[in-house]
Amino acid sequence: MQEIRELGEVSWTYDEIRNSIPDFLEIYKQKPIDDNQGGMKSPHMFATWFLLKKINPKNVIESGVWKGQGTWLIEKTLPDAKIYSIDLNLSKREYLSEKVMYFDTDFFNIDWSIIQEKENTILFFDDHQNAFERIKKCKGLGFKYYLFEDNYPSGPGDCYSLKKAFQHAGFEPDSKERGLSKIIKTLLGKTNRVAPNSKDASYLKRVLEIYYEFPPVFIKKKTRWGDNWDGEIYPTPLPLYEEVEHDYLRVFREEADSYTWLCYAKIR
Ligand SMILES: C[S@@+](CC[C@H](N)C(=O)[O-])C[C@H]1O[C@@H](n2cnc3c(N)ncnc32)[C@H](O)[C@@H]1O
Repeated sequence: MQEIRELGEVSWTYDEIRNSIPDFLEIYKQKPIDDNQGGMKSPHMFATWFLLKKINPKNVIESGVWKGQGTWLIEKTLPDAKIYSIDLNLSKREYLSEKVMYFDTDFFNIDWSIIQEKENTILFFDDHQNAFERIKKCKGLGFKYYLFEDNYPSGPGDCYSLKKAFQHAGFEPDSKERGLSKIIKTLLGKTNRVAPNSKDASYLKRVLEIYYEFPPVFIKKKTRWGDNWDGEIYPTPLPLYEEVEHDYLRVFREEADSYTWLCYAKIR
């Protein structure tokens, strides 16, 4: 199976990421939502905070709001940025901001001519949609910077990720739908199944200047799916730490299995 964890070069090192953890935790302890089950926990929040600070864009488009923990983090990290937040169901929000422009329709139904500086905008997708299609179409709209939260390797996950594309793995929806209706939809191309292929990876290698999987702070012996966290099955960048060297790292240890290979991508 093909595998890529990095394309191009980022301007930071493991040491820089490690050294920034205490600053992140100062912010993280102010988070408005204590129980963010179904949404971002410390591994994602840390990666998002770190990458947003590094890229420092003027605009952020967030797709997948859930309770609003991520919206809060974006606002806290980039107080001068204009934030656009999308969720098909905005009723779950517990954190709302008057400074944020909210939408309740898919990203592609929105007229993005409202954003002038697309090259100074990051798109943060945490909405479990086909990441490959997002990149292809958003590139056409002129957007350069991307974060994808649900970047699952071949096997688990409910959407086609860039990681799966780099692995040539395709995507098999674990649909509850069975029988004739499933067969008809498959024949008509109406499911979101993606056949294993190498052309999507070739396309990504051509258009991306950077593809970077944020390293986990820790990895556990077992994944959240209950099997061994084996590097062959779940190729993962080296974790930042092997042991809990400081007490403040405990939260990352406890939530290590919620890591989702969050990736940063930049179009050439
Ligand atoms: C994992 S949650 C997002 C977690 C959130 N980023 C956080 O800060 O905790 C996924 C969200 O994506 C939303 N969603 C599903 N399809 C979507 C779409 N096409 N566009 C935007 N949001 C979508 C769901 O309603 C759900 O609230």
